[in-house]
Amino acid sequence: MKGESYLRFRKIAPWYDVGVKLLALSMGGEAAVREKILGLLPLNTGSRVLEVGCGTGTVALMAAGRVGPTGEVVGIDPSTEMLARARKKLVKSKFRQVALLRSAGAPLPFPDCYFDAVILFFVLHEMVQEDRIDSLQEALRVLKLDGHLLVADLGRPESKVGRLLQQLLLLVEEKEAADFLRRGLSAIIGEGGSGELTEVERVIFAHHFVQGVLYRKIKNRPYEQQYYAGQNNDPEKERKASSTPCRSRTFRASCRFPS
Ligand SMILES: C[S@@+](CC[C@H](N)C(=O)[O-])C[C@H]1O[C@@H](n2cnc3c(N)ncnc32)[C@H](O)[C@@H]1O
Repeated sequence: MKGESYLRFRKIAPWYDVGVKLLALSMGGEAAVREKILGLLPLNTGSRVLEVGCGTGTVALMAAGRVGPTGEVVGIDPSTEMLARARKKLVKSKFRQVALLRSAGAPLPFPDCYFDAVILFFVLHEMVQEDRIDSLQEALRVLKLDGHLLVADLGRPESKVGRLLQQLLLLVEEKEAADFLRRGLSAIIGEGGSGELTEVERVIFAHHFVQGVLYRKIKNRPYEQQYYAGQNNDPEKERKASSTPCRSRTFRASCRFPS
């Protein structure tokens, strides 16, 4: 991971959920916005879902309700403070099919083609461009063929109200958000998706201030798999994995995956 903007969530974590609620009032309320975007995703009982940058866990828990007890939801985030909030919510919830791990979007400690869906809610605008591309490529690696990628993030507002909301938000955002808006989501997906994705459906809020886009994975790349110590049959790969400082080795301790 090249960027470190996740560190700012140390301070933001206690206020994050309240801040999101207030911001979403202008779009009909947080629950309505999240449900409408998550509603794009065709999830079934038993589906496996990964949320990258799960923050305080709101969407991961919503997804858990849709995949049922036989499904699996994994939320990952590099911020211990955000994850601590997510864990509290998880403990209070009725869901036991959710795992929360400390990890960046790349590398991901999961095998190729494991998940039916990968969700990125308001996380790409937090990353530097290199991390966006790496995270998208990792998301696609762990996503099954015909699986879905659901992205919610900032758009380019087409009205005064939308532009005003964006200006207000940029006051509290880092330079990564301005860079994200300059490039635009479609261009970023085009670069990170390497022709593996096709857009299925899109919803917009507050005149494009926020957008939710569903993509389907239409082809597999020959993945340059990330290798983890203790998981390689090939001795050369195992030697490389053991000599590479790899965060995922610690993360795996709290993780049910990969099997
Ligand atoms: C604006 S919050 C969104 C949280 C949650 N997805 C939601 O919808 O409320 C962005 C989250 O992305 C996480 N994040 C930042 N950089 C990341 C990276 N490189 N990989 C994964 N997550 C990252 C932050 O720690 C933070 O929790």
